[in-house]
Amino acid sequence: MTQDEMKRDAAWAALEFVSEDSIVGVGTGSTVNHFIDALATIKHTLRGAVSSSEQSTAKLKQLGIEVLDLNEISELSVYIDGADEINDQKQMIKGGGAALTREKIVAAVAKTFVCIVDSTKQVNVLGKFPLPIEVIPMASSYVSRELQKLGATPVLRQGVVTDNGNLIIDAHDLQIADALALEQQLNNIVGVVTNGLFARRPADIVLVGSSNGTSILK
Ligand code: 5RP
Repeated sequence: MTQDEMKRDAAWAALEFVSEDSIVGVGTGSTVNHFIDALATIKHTLRGAVSSSEQSTAKLKQLGIEVLDLNEISELSVYIDGADEINDQKQMIKGGGAALTREKIVAAVAKTFVCIVDSTKQVNVLGKFPLPIEVIPMASSYVSRELQKLGATPVLRQGVVTDNGNLIIDAHDLQIADALALEQQLNNIVGVVTNGLFARRPADIVLVGSSNGTSILK
């Protein structure tokens, strides 16, 4: 089974967590693209979706799923998204697709976060995948210097501007022993908009696609 087939399996399994007449929070990435394909098969039972990126918005609209403004709704029952790494506490590194800020916002509003991954994303310790950090453009050099003080090797992601008009620094070589503490510490650097650690708001349910099928971690 290829990695993409495992992603697809996990993504389709997430349909089970979408209730009738609900608004669904939709993440970003190749795994989520499979989920949007699955969602389109039940679109007539939905009130709509809230999207975490221009990329997902375009695909949702193309498949005839209404996209609602998060400010127009007061609650969101479920958010479905992928991850770049996930540990056994369901804490994640996200932002490989540069959509981390909107992903974190939609995840914060959602009652339940269902993470869809293939088994290669499971890790014991977060940090092998470089940690994406969205920064205000004029602060990128300052934030890079602050990251170096924390032991990271910062690399500005070339040619990428986020949906919010900002830049992404990928922080390599971080030792993430305490994801919750590091998430807070990075948020305190002036010029950082969001960092890709999802520890304060981890996933609630993880669907892991593997060559043996998709398993559910609750
Ligand atoms: C985008 C993300 C994605 O969820 C993450 O990068 C995983 O992507 P994929 O499903 O393509 O492996 O955080 O910002």
